[in-house]
Amino acid sequence: MANRIDRRKFLQLSVLSTPLLVSKKSIANGIHLPNIPIVISTWDSGMEVNAAAWKILSTNGRALDAIEAGARQIENTINCCVGLGGNPDRDGIVTLDACIMDEQSNCGAVAGLEQIKHPISVARKVMENTPHVLLVGNGAQQFALENGFSKEPAQLSETAENAYREWLKKSEYKPQINVEKNKGNGPFAPNFFPDGSPNHDTMGLLAMDQKGNLSGGVTTSGMAFKLHGRVGDSAGIGAGLFVDNEVGAATSSGVGEEVIRICGTHLVVEFMRQGLSPEKACKKAVERIVNRDPEKAKTLQVGFLAMNKKGEYGAYAIQKGFVFSVKTKEENQIHESKFIFSA
Ligand code: GLY
Repeated sequence: MANRIDRRKFLQLSVLSTPLLVSKKSIANGIHLPNIPIVISTWDSGMEVNAAAWKILSTNGRALDAIEAGARQIENTINCCVGLGGNPDRDGIVTLDACIMDEQSNCGAVAGLEQIKHPISVARKVMENTPHVLLVGNGAQQFALENGFSKEPAQLSETAENAYREWLKKSEYKPQINVEKNKGNGPFAPNFFPDGSPNHDTMGLLAMDQKGNLSGGVTTSGMAFKLHGRVGDSAGIGAGLFVDNEVGAATSSGVGEEVIRICGTHLVVEFMRQGLSPEKACKKAVERIVNRDPEKAKTLQVGFLAMNKKGEYGAYAIQKGFVFSVKTKEENQIHESKFIFSA
């Protein structure tokens, strides 16, 4: 009996001491151990997303609220890759995918949503107000309208409009997604549109709040010039986003089909559960894609971004060019992801 009490006391002390360990900042072997709270996002546009999320995290708010606020920030901007200004499908229609997941494995998602400005908030309503996880197309729009969202027309960003016009000339279905800038006639699709704007595809963000709770969200207009009705990884729990509050969280960007094939973010979290760092976990998931078809992998991009319960974070991509943004009390910057191929 005495032993049992001692053990319980020991376990309580271990749990209590965790925040002390987390609050120590150290950087060793490329692994960062920043203070919590923390928010990390895909791409350099994540800097503004993180700033919006930080307003909530820094005032002791909940990670889930920070995720929604961060995603809404980019949905409010006219840009090529997220929200109503995003890249259209091959029929010229903007269709949006989003998902959200909290520390209790509650999750919600929408796919193929048209004419609604904030898919992330609709996804949250699916999570909180329905027994379902995913609503698609007209049903998702009907649900949004019934829940106080209003319809507004898509307004293509100039970049998306020009790229679509250019694409229509050949109408080739060829994923062109955030790989390194084409240096000529090589096998890689351009990382930049003709006007120099980045061809990024997805905003994925992960946050841990002051209480140590994790949440994540993803929002996107999806792969440029996709078939109408195509849904990528960004609406898929376990594909574009996974959160396990005991272990960590992961999100992805890039060719959604490749992420879906390996249940990418679930895989990353499972690798972290086995003890791998976020960066190594992301690398193993990327290798899973590359090893399946190395020649094909050379022509496409996927990047994973992950965070564990200690606030350590990391990323890995198939190609050079994937970047991510980090915000903590001590850090506010963009990092380059490591990668397999450098073109
Ligand atoms: N990663 C976004 C998509 O494939 O739609």
